[in-house]
Amino acid sequence: MVGQALAAKLAKMGHRVMVGTRSPSETLARSAPNAAGQPPLSAWLQENPAVHLGTYAEAAQLGAMVINATNGMGSLAALHQAGAANLSGKILIDIANPLDFSRGMPPSLSVSNTDSLAEQIQAAFPETRVVKTLNTVTAAIMVAPQLLANGEHTIFVSGNDPAARAQVSDWLKDWFGWKHILDLGDITSARGVEMYLPLWLRLWGACGTPMLNVRIVT
Ligand SMILES: NC(=O)c1ccc[n+]([C@@H]2O[C@H](COP(=O)([O-])OP(=O)(O)OC[C@H]3O[C@@H](n4cnc5c(N)ncnc54)[C@H](OP(=O)(O)O)[C@@H]3O)[C@@H](O)[C@H]2O)c1
Repeated sequence: MVGQALAAKLAKMGHRVMVGTRSPSETLARSAPNAAGQPPLSAWLQENPAVHLGTYAEAAQLGAMVINATNGMGSLAALHQAGAANLSGKILIDIANPLDFSRGMPPSLSVSNTDSLAEQIQAAFPETRVVKTLNTVTAAIMVAPQLLANGEHTIFVSGNDPAARAQVSDWLKDWFGWKHILDLGDITSARGVEMYLPLWLRLWGACGTPMLNVRIVT
């Protein structure tokens, strides 16, 4: 859902985009729509001819910037497949949530309190500039915040490199139209935005729609 939403939007804007997957041939062979009702990737790629499909390593090598939109339980393995050398020096936008569905619903967090998935990724790839963002909204809102309350709601950024946080904030504004971007500081602030997920899931239930977000006021 997330990878397709971001890839389609960025490709439409003229960026060269490659979606990485564990196995391009197995991914292409899938015939069912995804959880958002988007067509299977093979059909979707025909609708989005500017998006290319490759391995995680090929995608990471091609990208001047890399987005982690993998399942949180597999993110570290996926990024190791992408390869530290291919990620070195680059900004990595991390959207993944460490949701563990192995014991059913609701999911638990596989890491929390004193650590976060974003910190684990930063520790595993010290030469990469990890910026956590967009994980607190559903995929449709990530690329079109104006769909909700005229865009009057908040997205967060976390990361150790202030220049990378500023660059990602500019991209969120310029590419997707985010108006309210709150810089939370270093990567340990990702703990909070990942631990927001249990509340976000209950908000979805209470509101009857995932098309929701919060606005921070002081
Ligand atoms: N869906 C949303 O609206 C939303 C909103 C905010 C944040 N997020 C977060 O963004 C990430 C992507 O979410 P999503 O809903 O687009 O997709 P998803 O179902 O969580 O998984 C995305 C892809 O991750 C890949 N993957 C790599 N290693 C994996 C493993 N060990 N187990 C399972 N899948 C693995 C799979 O691609 P291949 O099989 O092709 O390799 C899969 O299609 C997740 O971390 C999610 O928590 C999602």
